[in-house]
This record gives sequence, structure tokens and C-alpha cells, in this order.
Amino acid sequence: MSIIAARLNRIKPSPSSMASQRARELRAAGRDIIGLTSGEPDFDTPPNVCDAVVRAMTASKTKYTDVGGTPELKAAIIEKFRRDNGLAYAADEVIVGTGGKQIIFNALMCTLEPGDEVIVPAPYWVSYPDITLLAEGRPVVVACRPEDGFKLRSETLHQAITPRTRWLILNAPNNPSGATYTRDELRQLADVLLRHPQVWVMTDDIYEHIRYDGRRFFTIAQVEPALKERTLTVNGVSKAYAMTGWRIGYGGAPAELVKTMAKLQSQSTSNACSISQAAAQEALNGPQELIAERALIFQARRDRVVAAVNEIRGLRCHAPEGAFYAYASCADIIGKKTPDGRILGSDTDFVIYLLESQNLALVQGEAYGLSPFVRISFAASMEMLEEGCRRLRLACEALR
Ligand SMILES: Cc1ncc(COP(=O)(O)O)c(C=O)c1O
Repeated sequence: MSIIAARLNRIKPSPSSMASQRARELRAAGRDIIGLTSGEPDFDTPPNVCDAVVRAMTASKTKYTDVGGTPELKAAIIEKFRRDNGLAYAADEVIVGTGGKQIIFNALMCTLEPGDEVIVPAPYWVSYPDITLLAEGRPVVVACRPEDGFKLRSETLHQAITPRTRWLILNAPNNPSGATYTRDELRQLADVLLRHPQVWVMTDDIYEHIRYDGRRFFTIAQVEPALKERTLTVNGVSKAYAMTGWRIGYGGAPAELVKTMAKLQSQSTSNACSISQAAAQEALNGPQELIAERALIFQARRDRVVAAVNEIRGLRCHAPEGAFYAYASCADIIGKKTPDGRILGSDTDFVIYLLESQNLALVQGEAYGLSPFVRISFAASMEMLEEGCRRLRLACEALR
């Protein structure tokens, strides 16, 4: 009999982490791999943040902190929610965790009874369905069509809600589609939610600051204040400040949920790393100009990648409105034959073919619940992106 518990058989490892790891392994084995799988900015953590960390270490901020975060970081988070989102949270309504991922994990673990439903619009970030399954919930995946800009429509939401629905997970700018919501679009979703008081909203705003073409950012509790009492607003420093390795995420929610999440965290990881908390405090309180400067760099890369992909026969790509991924449709290459005679039956087959024939690593749309697509991360230098697109073109041209 296996030592592994059945609950672990319900989930799979994160496909995007696996793809990045595979690319690293092949590179280490000497292959000339271009990996466009990364979910993290290729920039450095800002210098003011690193300086603050040195100060925190020399001031011995190296001990356990309050489980839910230091008072100083919580104050910085409260100010951030006020400044950027017009949201007023009290200290007992914010919690700090080891990445946004832990916030999401804690919330679902604390709230789902077996069989409770979580509405997950697809394409989705890979972890939402698996964390739901681990918490014994049931992910209800609803497809968001390319014709709708990969956004959840209010009618689709309405149809997906049942008496068992506990959460709707919203994520915009979206990983992987780059979709963002206007105030009006969120308003329409809010109107549906107001009619279903049993449904809470988890809004994952982690890509808030990575937006293009001057698009504004809105979050649901700001658009409909009446929903704030059943909203968990998730955010973090990973993407905006290039701080993925520091592992700090945070959430704002009603005090009862926050207290319960802290209880769970007290029996698992305890506080997030004290030094990382000092780093996040500086990131949120310090100068913010770098964020917009970096978003412009991402925008130039987006423009280049989208243009290059749209020149390739068989691929089609919309311009993402935010985040740093191009989500290209490969519907027209499905059914085509590779030079060694294999038929490409899915986006997963296509991704394997790209890796084998061109040493190009991308992630298949299947991982994000909407096929047939490939996700191309442009968190990479322009040079890498040019070379990646060149290889993609060569691979597509070789198909019959
Ligand atoms: C949509 C989305 N949410 C959350 C996370 C997790 O971020 P963190 O590093 O804060 O755990 C990611 C990371 O890739 C993400 O893409």
C-alpha cells in the first residue's frame, strides 16, 4: 500500500513550474534551449528594497513575527489598498502570507466543505483548480471565449452559480490571457453576485501594475462596495516589484476570514519570512516609478512578440492588455504533420514538438484550461524573444 494520501492523487504539480524546470534541466544537459515559460519578471528587485533588507538584518529583524504579518507591513498594505484601490481595510482585515499562493491556499482550505463549488473562469492560473481539489472543493471551470476577450460574461457567471457555489475566482490582468476588466464589465459581474449572497469573490490582483496602453485597473470591492464584506482581495509583491523569490503575498478580507486564515497559517508555516516582510514593506512604501517604467518595457516586448507571432502561418495572437504572456491560438496547426510523420493532435503535442525540434520551451494551453493555445512569456530579453519567435516560425513552416 502506498504511503501517499488519496488527496494528493487529486492534484498535479504546477505545469508551468514543471515546464520551466524541464527547460533548466535540458539547458544544464547542454542543449541550446530558449525558455519562454517563466512566470516571473526578468528584472532585479529594486535597490531600495535590497538596502532596506540589509538595514532590517542589522537591526536583528530576524525573529518570529506575528503570524499574520508585522504591524509595519500591515500598515504599508493598508496604505497601498487605500492609495491604489480606494479600499479601506483595518489591521484585522489584512493578512500576510508566503506568496499570494499561500493566501489563496489558506482561504480555500478555511472555507470549503467537501463538494462546495468554486467557479474558475478559463483560461485560469494553473493553481486555482488544484488548490480547490486539495481543499475537497469542486472546481467549476467556465470557458471565456476569445471573442469575448477571454473575459467572464455576466450571463455565463449567472448560469454557473448553484446553491453550492462558495467562491468566484477573478484574476485580471489575467495569467495567461492578459485580459483586464473595465469598471463597467466588473459592474455587470457585481450585479449578478449581489443576487447570490452565498457566493464570495476571490480577486487575484497580482498583475495589477503590469498593464498596457494606459488601461486603468479596477478591483471588484472598489467597484461594488457592498461586495467588500464577501471579497478576498489578493495581491503581492512578486510581479510588480520583481520579488518572486522573497515570497510575500497579502490579502484583504473580512476579519473573521482573516483570523481563520491566520489560525491555519499558525499551524503550517507561521509568519512569512521576517526579512522578506521588511523588503515588502519598503517595496510598498518606497518610490513607485520603477513599476510604470518596467510596464513600458513589457509593452514594447508584447508588441514585438504579438507582431512576430501573427506573421507565422497557423498561429494567431491577440494583444494582451496586461501581465506578461502572449496566449496564441494554435487551432490551425492541429492535425498537421511534423517532418518525422507525427500528427499534432493537441497543444500539448505542439509544445513537445517545439521542444524537440527547435529547443523552444512554451507552455500548452491545456495547463490553463483552454485549448488549443500556447502561452509565450515575454518576461525575457528582446534578444531571447526574437530568437524564440524565429524558432517558432521555423517549427510551423516545417509542418505539412
Ligand atoms: C495569477 C497568479 N496568481 C498568483 C501567483 C502567485 O504569486 P506568488 O509569487 O505571490 O505566490 C501567480 C504566480 O505565477 C500568478 O500568476
